[in-house]
Amino acid sequence: MSLLRDHDLARAFDHASHTYDGLTALNPGYRAGLLRSARRLRLPDGGAGLHLLDLGCGTGASTRALLRAAPGARITAVDASAGMLRRALAKPWPARVRFLHLTAEELAKAEEGPFDAVFAAYLFRNVTDPDAVLRTVRTLLRPGGRLAVHEYTLSGSRAHRALWTAVCRGIVIPAGTLTGDRVLYRHLRHSVIAFDTAPAFAERLTRAGLTSVRTVPVAGWQKGIVHTFLAGNGGPTTTRERTQ
Ligand SMILES: C[S@@+](CC[C@H](N)C(=O)[O-])C[C@H]1O[C@@H](n2cnc3c(N)ncnc32)[C@H](O)[C@@H]1O
Repeated sequence: MSLLRDHDLARAFDHASHTYDGLTALNPGYRAGLLRSARRLRLPDGGAGLHLLDLGCGTGASTRALLRAAPGARITAVDASAGMLRRALAKPWPARVRFLHLTAEELAKAEEGPFDAVFAAYLFRNVTDPDAVLRTVRTLLRPGGRLAVHEYTLSGSRAHRALWTAVCRGIVIPAGTLTGDRVLYRHLRHSVIAFDTAPAFAERLTRAGLTSVRTVPVAGWQKGIVHTFLAGNGGPTTTRERTQ
């Protein structure tokens, strides 16, 4: 199956936006996993005085996690899908959270930042050129800034790949078919299989020049299927080094 990319992917997310929160609520641990990954950034003082970027914010579930992890921070949340952003904007947010309709690729020229930390949840598997987006992330991060990527990345074991296939065939694709979004949820299944394994993505981060790269598993049924990747942008750290 060919994967959805760019405009086609944004349109598929536009269409799926009205049922996205309902479907992800059925996934045990979806929100708790996002919160755990955001907290792994270990942002000091509740994020007071920091400017954070939520890249690929969707309907705002990852933005909410970032806000809970750093309630004092200013947050810029960016997404390529107008439909997903409309859902995010319909929710209550403090004034220091703002949403922008931009692709990760456009952000390179958008004169945004610098940011003290970047959070990207379920994004990298979807972009056409992950290395280019990582280069953009590096230019947007302050020296010493932190990156947390929360992503479907298989461990490399056959058991985890088989579990992912079974969950997609038995639950994700049938549920997505009921909401009229079969193409997007088939993309989800295949994009995870086609994307980097967790060790390969960690290597990709290192190749991109990010420092102190660490991979931490996500708990629950997604263990071995979703990971948090933590990395720094060299320089003096603006966030605490230790991770939970
Ligand atoms: C699976 S959703 C995750 C949303 C949110 N981060 C969450 O954790 O619930 C992926 C999001 O990435 C966005 N996206 C995909 N490719 C993108 C790109 N190149 N630039 C910006 N956003 C993108 C999609 O529009 C979609 O809203």
